[in-house]
Amino acid sequence: MDGRNARDDWWRHAVVYQIYPRSFADANGDGVGDVAGIRAKLPHLAALGVDAIWISPWYPSPMVDAGYDVSDYRDIEPVFGTLGEADALVAEAHAAGIKVIIDIVPNHTSDQHALFRAALAAGPGSPERELYIFREGRGSSGELPPNDWQSNFGGPAWTRVADGQWYLHLFAPGQPDVDWRHPGVRAEFEQTLRFWFDRGVDGFRIDVAHGMAKDWELPDLDGLEFPLPEDAEHDHPHWDQPGVHEIFREWRRVADEYRPSRAFCGEIWVGRAHRLAAYLRPDELHTAFNFDFLMAPWLPGELRRVIDATIASHAAVGAPPTWVLGNHDVCRPVSRYARDQHGLDPMARNLVHYQGRPADLALGGRRARAAALLMLALPGGAYVYQGEELGLPEAEDIPAEALQDPVWFQSGGTDKGRDGCRVPLPWTAAGESFGFSPDGAAAPWLPQPSDWAPFAADAQDGVPGSTLELYRAALTLRRELGELGDGSLEWLDGGENVLAFARPADADGVRFQCWTNLGSEPVELPAGEVLLASDALDADRKLPSDVTVWLHG
Ligand code: NOJ
Repeated sequence: MDGRNARDDWWRHAVVYQIYPRSFADANGDGVGDVAGIRAKLPHLAALGVDAIWISPWYPSPMVDAGYDVSDYRDIEPVFGTLGEADALVAEAHAAGIKVIIDIVPNHTSDQHALFRAALAAGPGSPERELYIFREGRGSSGELPPNDWQSNFGGPAWTRVADGQWYLHLFAPGQPDVDWRHPGVRAEFEQTLRFWFDRGVDGFRIDVAHGMAKDWELPDLDGLEFPLPEDAEHDHPHWDQPGVHEIFREWRRVADEYRPSRAFCGEIWVGRAHRLAAYLRPDELHTAFNFDFLMAPWLPGELRRVIDATIASHAAVGAPPTWVLGNHDVCRPVSRYARDQHGLDPMARNLVHYQGRPADLALGGRRARAAALLMLALPGGAYVYQGEELGLPEAEDIPAEALQDPVWFQSGGTDKGRDGCRVPLPWTAAGESFGFSPDGAAAPWLPQPSDWAPFAADAQDGVPGSTLELYRAALTLRRELGELGDGSLEWLDGGENVLAFARPADADGVRFQCWTNLGSEPVELPAGEVLLASDALDADRKLPSDVTVWLHG
């Protein structure tokens, strides 16, 4: 392990690569990715130069929400492999200098979890039911849900069981929310944290971290929208409740018992910078995804506003900023940036927000490469979702009969959901599934577009100008230039359509600069050595539209 990753504060600057295990690599030929597939691809990740991997849930699960419905938090889903293989993966990743972060899903369990099954069996009024959120219904015979909360995937957030009570699920009916006031819930999850920390796992990504505490009066929403306005003085009844912070203070104490320190990254959609920063106070979570950056349109003013707000709000609590362009829940950046960026819904992140707008995928790819270099030049940590290093677009044409996301079903077939960013990766230009599975294997669990050969890793390997080689070069330089991982930035004047900044000078007075042209005309670059560019510069060394360049000046 190199010195940088052995440091206790490795999480302050880490580039974390997200692995969605179903779709990363299938070693055993059943059409679904697995732990053995991840192990086989560790050389790809080491060559890419990432500091850590985050593995989306790999636990036993009925898969109503692709593994975010966990039936046993301390084992591995048999389709993915065994606990022994997971241990081997952690050891091999560490040997390659890569930290391992796994996903914990504490807002809800699967309805097949032993605790929920016990709660169902024990009946109304039993102590077992107190671990979940069971209530009587409204209406003369309890036939109406207890309140008007809606599932994030569509439809009511309550399901009625045979004995007449209702249980809360902010997501699918197969994902009952737990009651975090209950000491049994707290003890259960603390045991899970320790189980994996003791096995050498370096941290957790926390699913729906902003949903775990509720207003226990369970008041109706009465049309209340989320996110709340920046200056709102009231809280939302089930997102970002103040009670959540006490849970994370407990978790931080557990993480701090370990050396090197274990780290948390919260999935926190709150839409207000100061509310996000509250989760990152020194005794709470280490980091959180910066979804404001992900959702910012490719427009200079918007991006600059988000960058400034992020740096200021994180500095206020001493937390490192992070930057992210995609994950398994959102439309891939190539396809987002392929669309007209003006007048988008400020929360636009899924395919459904973009589908009415014509796509120019070549433009989207160019912007996504420029965005990647911009992101990797900013202070703090960064997340790369599998396939971004290949420049993959969203698969927009998956046939309805192949869709699997509960969003598709719970929206009554009006929202295709997130399957388009979850399509199995192309590793080789040849082969039945572009090398995702061995030839002769079952078909991939989601169909791959037939024209993906040029995106395959082996088609880009060693090819100058390919997206894969750009990511490799950027991550190598980021390590070599050490100063990129820490510190602040100073905006430079490059004109209104340019984002240009310098990072602090090194001992020799050399300053790293990052210039991104978001306008339609080429711009003059300052003197200095060009280190890397997301696409070719003009013959007269001008910076073309939608290109980022790294310079030493
Ligand atoms: C956020 C996860 O990223 C998403 O995939 C999942 O559907 C929900 N949380 C519910 O667990």
